[in-house]
Amino acid sequence: MVTLVAVCGIVGYVGHRQALDVVLNGLRRLEYRGYDSAGVAVLTDAGLTVERKAGRLANLEARLAEVGVDSFAGTAGMGHTRWATHGAPIDRNSHPHRDATGRVAVVHNGIIENFAALRAELEAAGVELASDTDSETAAHLIAREYGAAKERGGGLAEAVRTVCRRLEGAFTLVVSHADEPDLIVAARRSSPLVVGLGDGETFVASDVAAFIEHTREAVELGQDQLVEITRDGYRVTDFHGEDAPVKPFTVDWDLSAAEKGGHEYFMLKEIEEQPEALANTLRGHFVDGRVVLDEQRLSDQDLRDVDKVFVVACGSAYHSGLVAKYAIEHWTRLPVEVELASEFRYRDPVLDRDTLVVAVSQSGETADTLEAVRHAREQKARVLAVCNTNGAQIPRESDAVLYTHAGPEIGVASTKAFLAQIAANYLVGLALAQARGTKYADEVAREFRELEAMPKAVSRVLETVERVRALGRELADSKAVLFLGRHVGYPVALEGALKLKELAYMHAEGFAAGELKHGPIALIEEGLPVVVVMPSPKGRAVLHAKLVSNISEIQARGARTVVIAEEGDETVRPFADELIEVPAVPTLLQPLVSTVPLQVLAAEIARARGYDVDKPRNLAKSVTVE
Ligand code: F6R
Repeated sequence: MVTLVAVCGIVGYVGHRQALDVVLNGLRRLEYRGYDSAGVAVLTDAGLTVERKAGRLANLEARLAEVGVDSFAGTAGMGHTRWATHGAPIDRNSHPHRDATGRVAVVHNGIIENFAALRAELEAAGVELASDTDSETAAHLIAREYGAAKERGGGLAEAVRTVCRRLEGAFTLVVSHADEPDLIVAARRSSPLVVGLGDGETFVASDVAAFIEHTREAVELGQDQLVEITRDGYRVTDFHGEDAPVKPFTVDWDLSAAEKGGHEYFMLKEIEEQPEALANTLRGHFVDGRVVLDEQRLSDQDLRDVDKVFVVACGSAYHSGLVAKYAIEHWTRLPVEVELASEFRYRDPVLDRDTLVVAVSQSGETADTLEAVRHAREQKARVLAVCNTNGAQIPRESDAVLYTHAGPEIGVASTKAFLAQIAANYLVGLALAQARGTKYADEVAREFRELEAMPKAVSRVLETVERVRALGRELADSKAVLFLGRHVGYPVALEGALKLKELAYMHAEGFAAGELKHGPIALIEEGLPVVVVMPSPKGRAVLHAKLVSNISEIQARGARTVVIAEEGDETVRPFADELIEVPAVPTLLQPLVSTVPLQVLAAEIARARGYDVDKPRNLAKSVTVE
């Protein structure tokens, strides 16, 4: 038996517009969450009309154009875009799933862990399942409970609650029943769910991006909560039917932030938004001469008691942690370990109440990072989340939060969120230094002012975009690219290599330049592009000299050197086959400028190779499975 589970984007709507249009638009904005298949269901006069198709949303749209949309007339409906983790993403495994009578439709995000037992139970009762998914079991179970709920004077919401109490694992469900055509029910355990409150219309979705063009007023659903939406409003209960407290919020960005705004792809737009992302992340965090965090449930005394820091994160967020280590150790004299969240809890890390775990996550829902947070809290460590998504699960489960205000990041490869994470991690370092007294107030103020100057410096780097894009086109046929750096340039090299791997499907490796001679130099051959991230010749003269020697060694062996160096760095010029200059900034802040050309390079190489820059194969924006 193949288990198919989904990370996915889900959307539901009840209102006065044609549900199909609203749902398809919502799916377009959620497609970054997964693009293995898509499907819609609309409550019509004839019951439930469903269409679903493997592949991207465009396939579903083509199918709808083929069958015609007349049979989809209706003002309530739901949709799904899926990222499969196991098994084939084929039509019959696509959502929505229905029960045998076709009167119940369900879309699902997550994993129903006890689905084998539920499936066996259904099969023993004579139910034939039409797909290999765990999700379909929910449709049959809800259909079965619906009759009983009706007899008790309840309805769909009660049936869904009964089933949710039986489901194990992480799941978010959106459910409709043909007998209750003006109602959509949604339930949440773990995977995110927000309700959008419009005028005579209500939405549910995994992300506000799905309904931002209609309303910015939203309500976040908590764990084990269920919401009933109608065109007139919503009601939230727990899985036992008790009214539950809700947390309304207003989204602080608008539709234009979630649209390409004339750019060829989202990633390029997001690269260009980096100055703003940095400025927004810093804004409001230096008040009356002190660095302040957002949701501070840790006292200054708690911060003073910290004797060790862990940064846990995945992918690019992990690289932001590697950068932060240099600053936090330097400013606080505390030992900082940076660890991949997926490794952290499996190796019994030494944690106690004086350990501060900084969990960095753009989405706030990455399963590995969330589990690391839970593990840390079980061991009594304090957890501070650095997150780009308001109210996501990781900040909800943390002791303190610092939000990066990068705005929605639609391109699957992280860019502006990464830069914002670096800035936010630095604020954490400064908050620690300030509480512990390892930096005087005027030093903290100076560091903050230097950070505040960074949006301008990044804007200057963006002036090189077209040149870097041209270089990307030249390098598009390369077999592999290596990236070298030292000190804070090393995580930048790792980030450059990750961008190239995920976008251009090209072999790319980042190395600490000093390690080259211990093995990787054997990879150098005639014409191999090697990108070198140079430190400042003034700020880090010794390291600079060492890197110049490293470059000359690889150039002597035939490499084509692409050098990212500070403006006016004349020493490196003779060793650079291609030179990309970035403004001079303090050493610790260099990653904020030197990463930018590497993002552009990877995106352009991918584009030149004919790949979808915003939706690289096999990936999804939020990885909510371990
Ligand atoms: C790479 C990328 C990923 C994410 C990683 C963590 O471009 O985007 O490596 O950085 O999956 O995601 P978050 O930050 O949402 O926890």
